[in-house]
Amino acid sequence: MRQIASHDIVILGSGLAGLRAALEAAQVSQGKVNIALVSKVQLMRSHSVCAEGGTAAVLRTEEGDSFELHAWDTVKGSDFLADQDVVDRFVRTIPEEILRLDHWGLPWSRRSTGQIDQRPFGGHSFPRATFAADKTGFFEMHALYDVLQQYDCVTRYDEWFCTSLLTEGDKFRGLAGIDLTTGEHQAIAGKALIICTGGAGRLFGYTTYSQTVTGDGLALAYRAGIALKDMEFLQFHPTGIVPSGILMTEGCRGEGGYLRDNTGARFMQNYAPERMELAPRDITSRSMITEILAGHGFPGPRGLDYLHLDLTHLGADKINERLPLIREVCIHFMGIDPIDEPIPVRPVAHYAMGGINNDIEGVTRIENLWAAGEAGCQSLHGANRLGCNSTAECLVWGKITGAHAAEYAANHGDVVKLPEAQLQDEDQRIETQRKREGDENLYSIRADLWRTMDQGVGVYRTAEGLQEALDRIKQLQERALRAPVKDQSRTYNTDLTAAFELGYVLEIAEAMVAGALVRQESRGAHARRDFPARDDDNWLKHTLAFRTDDGPRLDYSPVTITTWKPVERKY
Ligand code: FUM
Repeated sequence: MRQIASHDIVILGSGLAGLRAALEAAQVSQGKVNIALVSKVQLMRSHSVCAEGGTAAVLRTEEGDSFELHAWDTVKGSDFLADQDVVDRFVRTIPEEILRLDHWGLPWSRRSTGQIDQRPFGGHSFPRATFAADKTGFFEMHALYDVLQQYDCVTRYDEWFCTSLLTEGDKFRGLAGIDLTTGEHQAIAGKALIICTGGAGRLFGYTTYSQTVTGDGLALAYRAGIALKDMEFLQFHPTGIVPSGILMTEGCRGEGGYLRDNTGARFMQNYAPERMELAPRDITSRSMITEILAGHGFPGPRGLDYLHLDLTHLGADKINERLPLIREVCIHFMGIDPIDEPIPVRPVAHYAMGGINNDIEGVTRIENLWAAGEAGCQSLHGANRLGCNSTAECLVWGKITGAHAAEYAANHGDVVKLPEAQLQDEDQRIETQRKREGDENLYSIRADLWRTMDQGVGVYRTAEGLQEALDRIKQLQERALRAPVKDQSRTYNTDLTAAFELGYVLEIAEAMVAGALVRQESRGAHARRDFPARDDDNWLKHTLAFRTDDGPRLDYSPVTITTWKPVERKY
């Protein structure tokens, strides 16, 4: 393995958080820090481009919105597991990010007055989802990418797959990995690292995550001794299209869409009569599964029974203006035009509230390693995230961590030279993976993991189902040791990267299920049939999973409560 470069800051992941971090570091240092932007995909293929519905921010205090209201909605939505100091910082920071993106050319949807428009979203008690039709993430990525072109202090390493974080004692030193375009084993040294690789990703078969999101950053940090926090809280978005799982944005319901059962009834009346279809996602998803299990759904393929998302009453003009992507996806993938017909939907694995344990500044237990966006868990979302708080989180913690990393780099002068012996070890590790022999198949193991998680770790959970899933994951880890990389070519060897990715998702799944099994309560997205109530006496705490060779060791840390004591959630 050859060290190809040495940078002040290395950013792993080129989605919204990564680009925002790069821009902040470039700007606060006036172009002086030397930044590596590393991604296993081409930059604009990052999963952030799939974000649809919007970015939550308080823009209209004169119309009744406030920081306190956004904070309260977020804390209540989190089922009181969010750290309230983190929430406060978040709601106060995001409005300026919206205006900054406006100045950077993002074509926000606007009112006829020319003001930036906002629409309602689940769990928010004020319409504060700032949006660009239903392609918000795509336009945010474009705006950031355009501005990034002004900075020649940023070097892009697209299609570069990271296999290890290189550390020395308690310091980050560099990344080891593979240049996918050539197959060469390479190392990139850095004074500081920001992990922005997105969430836990494709642990489930039925999911909105892109195929490329495999929790790489989480697994790499976990292996480097950083805890994963609150992994049992996995969000199921209420409306994935059946059977592909493609996201039907909550913006559909924000614009007035209905959820209907097989009699045409708007069943949310029975669960959240005040908020109806705009209840928080955990409640809406549980309501939908309850209706499906009661036989009020429609039969779907592969057991994916579904309900209807009905937009037909919105009219063609509104759908074409506000939800053009939704219409296009329905026509191309389903042969359904939502102007005329309802859309088949059911709850779908969408977002990890948990992630790399870090603090309000984004810093981890390694002082020169930060995490931002979905990869990091500052405890903003607690047990259940509100829609549109995630693109917002990427911008806020991209900015915060970019500034910290730039400051750190400016104050730590040494250019890093990675030890030759460490590079040889990493070389060997990749070769061992490549040369692995055995009678197993990487892709069958991956499919088995997806089935295991879909069946045992879904919207509703039980001890029995979780234990079965955990046992199965352990078996899959054993099997993965006997799964060879069949393709031995050097360039774009996706078989080799799939082998690494399988290791990542299996390890993350194990941490997720272990945490879920032990947490004997129901809170937010973690709904236990055998422990249906929230239990603040015993479980108002964060779960920390530390990696050991025998599996995760669990520990707990307190929730920061500054303003609101937990109360019963009613919508
Ligand atoms: O429904 C959506 O557009 C998703 C938004 C989010 O997850 O924040």
